[in-house]
Amino acid sequence: MEKKVALITGAYKGLGLEIARQLGQQGIIVLLGARSIEKAEVAAAELREEKIEARGVELDVTDSTHISSATEWIESEYGRLDILVNNAGIYLDHLGNTLDVMRSSFEVNVFGPQALSEALLPLLKASPAGRIVNQSSILGSLGTLLSDEMLGSASAPAYTTSKAALNAWTVQLSIRLKTTNVKVNACHPGWVKTDMGGDGAPMEISEGAETAVWLATLPADGPTGGFFHKEEALPW
Ligand SMILES: NC(=O)c1ccc[n+]([C@@H]2O[C@H](COP(=O)([O-])OP(=O)(O)OC[C@H]3O[C@@H](n4cnc5c(N)ncnc54)[C@H](OP(=O)(O)O)[C@@H]3O)[C@@H](O)[C@H]2O)c1
Repeated sequence: MEKKVALITGAYKGLGLEIARQLGQQGIIVLLGARSIEKAEVAAAELREEKIEARGVELDVTDSTHISSATEWIESEYGRLDILVNNAGIYLDHLGNTLDVMRSSFEVNVFGPQALSEALLPLLKASPAGRIVNQSSILGSLGTLLSDEMLGSASAPAYTTSKAALNAWTVQLSIRLKTTNVKVNACHPGWVKTDMGGDGAPMEISEGAETAVWLATLPADGPTGGFFHKEEALPW
């Protein structure tokens, strides 16, 4: 059987690199996207040392030239894509509650995944079991932000609204793709020890990658249009 091919964005470090590692350990060919080709190659070389079939791709998700070059390259090399993990994300709210922060956050956390997924949809549809995983956050759950437990503790307007928009778009895309072989789900990795999550986070990166890996490898009877953490559905 042909090996599956997966593209993971923001794969130079943190959750993206680990998702690529865990997919690669399952025998999937992993294409590691990073903002520069140098970073992408460093990350791919690290996984190749671990006997994983890994290749680097220059992919700043806000750059339309990168998106079209990556799409053309994947088409010419593989003719299809089985898994897209829209993992790249930024948290900028510490820079202030400004429109610039809001715009930049939406560029990476919402418009990037949207533009990349649209470009790659024909290749995902060419797969017998296309899977799109949108790396979201529990902070994008409006129900959770309003809960007694969270109220007042998550003041991050740009991050939360961009992840909520990513969630809403996940649902929209899943409706559009309902009659195809492509499933699309949103993922909350947990609060994870990465550069973004910080040292105080309770979860190790290996555990944080597990939800995205599960969603990326869902069987034919798996869910689509959902929001999950550790195989449990989360409130929107
Ligand atoms: N860590 C957590 O606790 C947590 C919780 C919930 C959700 N998440 C989500 O999980 C995802 C990964 O987060 P992480 O914790 O692994 O963060 P991280 O360590 O900061 O890694 C983020 C990665 O995204 C890349 N990136 C940023 N802007 C990009 C762009 N325009 N194009 C392509 N790549 C870009 C970064 O690239 P550079 O290396 O070039 O900077 C970096 O490799 C994010 O979507 C985040 O919102 C994380």
